[in-house]
Amino acid sequence: MKHLITLKDMTKQEIEELLDLAREIKKCPESYADCLKNKTMLMFFEKPSLRTRVSFEVGMTQLGGHAIYYDVRSSPIGKGETIEDTAKTISRYCDIIIARLFCHETIEKIAGNSSIPVINALTDFSHPCQILSDFLTITEKRGALKGLKIAFLGDGNNNVTHSLIHGCKITGINLTVACPEECMPQKQVIGTDAKIRITQDAAEAAKDADVIYTDSWMSYHVPKEQEEERIKMFRPYQVTNDIMDLAKPDAIFMNCLPARRGCEQTAEVIEGPKSVVFDQAENRLHMQKAIVLKLLNIGNKV
Ligand code: CP
Ligand code: NVA
Repeated sequence: MKHLITLKDMTKQEIEELLDLAREIKKCPESYADCLKNKTMLMFFEKPSLRTRVSFEVGMTQLGGHAIYYDVRSSPIGKGETIEDTAKTISRYCDIIIARLFCHETIEKIAGNSSIPVINALTDFSHPCQILSDFLTITEKRGALKGLKIAFLGDGNNNVTHSLIHGCKITGINLTVACPEECMPQKQVIGTDAKIRITQDAAEAAKDADVIYTDSWMSYHVPKEQEEERIKMFRPYQVTNDIMDLAKPDAIFMNCLPARRGCEQTAEVIEGPKSVVFDQAENRLHMQKAIVLKLLNIGNKV
């Protein structure tokens, strides 16, 4: 692994190694306290964030390194400086870059011009760090990934959905995405894998699932004017107690957050006993550390 841009090109072994390292770090964080002495991360953000920003920043502190939060609005990008020059310059100061951007091609361009590792902290196309840490949560709650059944309900044409599809293909999870026809996952992501199914029927997807997963109906890049129309369109895909009752009795409910009660799930579901959303949020920290150490080729030396 040189960069982490999408999960698509990762192998099962690379994912398993990251999961093992994240578990080790979670169990014994003190052993990793000095791993990143004198290492600096640049955190390049074009969109809001709570979990991704804070978990990477805290992660760098706990590993003995330093993180610089850099709001794209305060950079010369857009005022004449090119992406290429920006990536080359950062490479001369820092050890690793994370970037949360609108356009996926921009992060590809940064990676293509960077001599240090680049991590996708979310683009409109994918959110690989989220799904890697969700796999940690799923293994903690439900054991091995292979053969599990996940139902994703809501926005199919979505960064989290795309990364979930990529990750499920690699790890052998059966995934059914229930979404409106207007918001299907991109064709290139779905591919031809028999383990990935798309339906318009939320109940069919939820039946006997081990995990019910949902994400925001109003992703950061979606204009506010579309809100009313989207709430109407996604309403049949809201995760309710009735939906949870169709899944296995010990099924878990996941949402990468931020969440809106009364939209992608009801308050009862997200506050209920099957919800693991804050374990998901916590695991972002452990997995981000594992990702950084792996990319810097340090984790396996501890
Ligand atoms: N789940 C997630 O990435 O949250 P943030 O937008 O708060 O970073
Ligand atoms: N799909 C959401 C994920 C937020 C973590 C978004 O892009 O806003």
